Parts: sequence; C-alpha cells; structure tokens
Amino acid sequence: MFQNWSIDLGDRLDRDRRDSIQLRIISAIIHDIERGALASGTYLPSSRDLARTLELNRKTVVLAYRDLIAQGWLTSHSTRGTSVASDLPDSGRTLPGAIAQPGDVSYGFAALPDRALALPECPGIRLDEGTPDGRLFRYNLLVRSYRSAAHRLARENGFRYRDPRGAEALRIAIADMLRSGRGMDIGKDNVCITRGSQNAIHLSCQLLLRPGDTVLVEELTYEPAVAAMRALGAEVLPVSLDDGGIDIDDVAAACRLRRVRAVFVTPHHQFPTTVVMRPERRLRLVELARLHGFAIIEDDYDHEFHFESQPHLPIASYAPAETIYVGSMSKLLLPTLRLGFAVAPRPVIDALAHHVSITDGMGNALEEEAVAHLIAKGDLQRHVRNTRQVYAERRTAFANNIDDLLGDRVEYRLPEGGLAFWLRFRSDIGVIERRVAGAGLRIASSESYRQRDSAPNGLRIGFASMDEEEQRTALHRLGAAL
Ligand SMILES: Cc1ncc(COP(=O)(O)O)c(C=O)c1O
Repeated sequence: MFQNWSIDLGDRLDRDRRDSIQLRIISAIIHDIERGALASGTYLPSSRDLARTLELNRKTVVLAYRDLIAQGWLTSHSTRGTSVASDLPDSGRTLPGAIAQPGDVSYGFAALPDRALALPECPGIRLDEGTPDGRLFRYNLLVRSYRSAAHRLARENGFRYRDPRGAEALRIAIADMLRSGRGMDIGKDNVCITRGSQNAIHLSCQLLLRPGDTVLVEELTYEPAVAAMRALGAEVLPVSLDDGGIDIDDVAAACRLRRVRAVFVTPHHQFPTTVVMRPERRLRLVELARLHGFAIIEDDYDHEFHFESQPHLPIASYAPAETIYVGSMSKLLLPTLRLGFAVAPRPVIDALAHHVSITDGMGNALEEEAVAHLIAKGDLQRHVRNTRQVYAERRTAFANNIDDLLGDRVEYRLPEGGLAFWLRFRSDIGVIERRVAGAGLRIASSESYRQRDSAPNGLRIGFASMDEEEQRTALHRLGAAL
C-alpha cells in the first residue's frame, strides 16, 4: 500500500536549528506514525525521492531510514522499498492535525496550592526572610576546595555512585562540629547529608508520616515544612505559640485527643517570630514525646547566629532518642550549595538513607567533599566568625533604622538570634501588603506563616543580607507603604 503522504518538516528545515537534519527527519516520521498520518504497512517514498523533495543529500535520508529500521519503526523490503512496520498499533487519535503544543497536558496531576512557596523573580527590592549576605563569602575558597576535592576523588576513583548518607569526610566534619559546638554526642553514623534542610525535613516526614497521620506545628510556622507534610497526606494540626515558644498545654491536649506522630518546631529561633523556646517547655515537650511516642523534628536552621548569649543547645543534645535534628549550611555558607543534614540515632539515619536512595540516589559528592575540605581548613569557622560580627552590627542597625523610619507604626522585639525581625503592625496587614507591592518591595506573604485564622499577623524581614544603606532604602519604602 502506498499512501499519499508528504513529510512535513515545518521549522525542522530551519538551518539555524542545532539538531541534525537526519534527526529532524526521524522525528517527523515518528510523529506522523504516532498521530496516525502514517498507518502501519504504509510505504514511504524512496530515499532518492524524499531527498529530492527536501533538497537534501540522499545520504541524509538513507541514514535516517536506516536508524528508523534499526529502531523498529520502519521495515525494509529490499527492492520493494521501505514501509512503516506492520506490528505497530493504529494510533489512538482520530486523525492528523492534533500536534501537541508546548503546555498541552493530557493526564491529571495534583493541583498546586494557591500560593507559590517561593517568591517569583520579578523587579523591585526583594526582602528575604533571613538569609545570609552571599557577598561576604570569599568564593575563591570554594574554588580552591572544589579543586582539591576533584583531585582527591580522581586519585581515589571516587567519581562513582556512593553512600546515600553522603560523603564520609563531610559526615565526620559535621559530627565534629556538632559535638564541639552544639553539645551533641554523635558520630558520623548519626549524620545523613541532605539537599538543604528542606530536603531533610521532607525525608524525615517520609519516614514518620502516613496518609491521615497527625503532625503538630505551631500556629505560625515555616510553610514549606507544612507543605511537605501535607504532600504526604498528613493532617497538620496547629497549636498555640507565645513569647516562650510552643504552648505545651496545647500539645498535651492534642495528644490526649489523637495519636500524634510528630511535632515540628524551630526552638532556637522560632520561624517566623524569632522567639527562643524556654527550657521548661523544651523539657516538657521531650516528656510528652516519651509519653506519647511522637518524634520531635527540630529544625535548627541558623544555629550559630545567636547574639545575646552562647547559642542554646539543641533539644537533640539532651533528648537524642526523641529527636530528628535538622541543620543547614544555607545560612552558615550559601543557600545555593543546597547542603543540609539530619542527625538521629543510627536506625533512623539508615531509614533516611533508604529514602535518599528513592528520591535522588545520593547527594553531590564533589560538593560534599569540597565543603568537608573547607571545614578541615578552618575556612568555614573563620567565615562564620566574621559574618556573625557583621550580622550583629546589622541587627543593631536594623533596629535603629526601624525606630528611625517606621517609628511607632510597627512593633518588634529585638531578636536574640537569627537573621530576621518579626514585625507587627498597627494597621490592617492586608492593606499594608498591597501597598508594599505597589512601593516596589517584595515580601513573603503574612499568610504564608499562618496555619489558622486566629494566628497573629506579622511580617518576617531578614536584615543580614542588606548593608546599612540597603536597609534604609528598603525600610524607607516600607514606611511609605504604611
Ligand atoms: C525555618 C527554616 N527551615 C528550613 C529552611 C530551609 O533551608 P535550606 O533548605 O536552604 O537549608 C529555611 C530556609 O530559609 C528556614 O527558614
């Protein structure tokens, strides 16, 4: 059977395209078979005729046909020519024409939440929620560490698939860091390297939560963590929060009513309010964890940046069996590195590693080795010492600038630690947020923190990534919006 078929290369003949013409012919023929324009058994024009039509060298068409024959799309009948393979099913489509456009989707998938988790890139000053100033990092140190790590991996045949828990050198370095600086009695086998702490939170949730399980969070909290829990089908129950941290009576009440699997907290610098969880509440939370068998997911995302005293020891340092401790290099070094870690008893780490294998196999071993090198050389520690000093000054400057430019239109408490302020406003937050956008400022929505309607309103604004002049420009615009 010979059908009146002509190949349509469309813009495939565009000579500026970088894929080969041979590949474009292959693609056009497969598309036509798939959409029913070329039925199985149909004879194609001879390579000579098709080459003439397309004004191409015949060899190009011969090679395209040869590939399609080798792949099973076409069959060669020696002297009788080349046809579409006879064992191909008839296309499900009614007929030619229906060429999918970019953006067409023919299957269902879970709808996105109304609000995106990340602020989109767009013009204006972007106020973050407490990120470091990447300009203070001497990137040459990283270049040097990458070079050294690459040499080492090459020498040791290390460019292979590796331990899903992460590079041993980095697990050792992090365990040392947490032992000496955060009072945690752990070794490398208690550490799993992750892609940022967000990944550690998600992996922990995968381990702990099944659809329908209950997890408790503070009524104001870190939305991406809640999103990870909800994505697993967990029921997220908000509990109250005040100046001393999570309301333990509320936690106890929830545990009496239902089986709670996990409690997510940011006890060192509560997100978003910055308050430090008081010792009595920490101890009572651990007591409840023991009594009811839930896990405490302790997100300690910016531990070293505490300004009023030594950083508080993590709950995990005195209750390791009840806790999955989550940390990050995003604030210590750079968020672009996407390096975080989970710390837990060995069986939990092994289970986390299993979930790493499922999710992305393993981390970026080259980067992990490079950061281990950075720590071994003392560069990370020096960088943290320097930036802590700079951020302490910026924290004071930010408070002074708020007093100066916003006056009594805003309420805040000087944060004991962390890289952000929690601002409460006297006027309607919805109106303020609309005006802020009009003033060319982009700020995370106050709604992103609130897990229930009765939760207080406020904005979390990072101070560390801006020098004093930048702070004044941003706060000036905020003042104009009030
Ligand atoms: C409370 C909290 N947890 C986790 C993260 C995630 O950080 P990363 O994934 O970059 O380590 C952030 C980032 O800002 C955060 O504020």
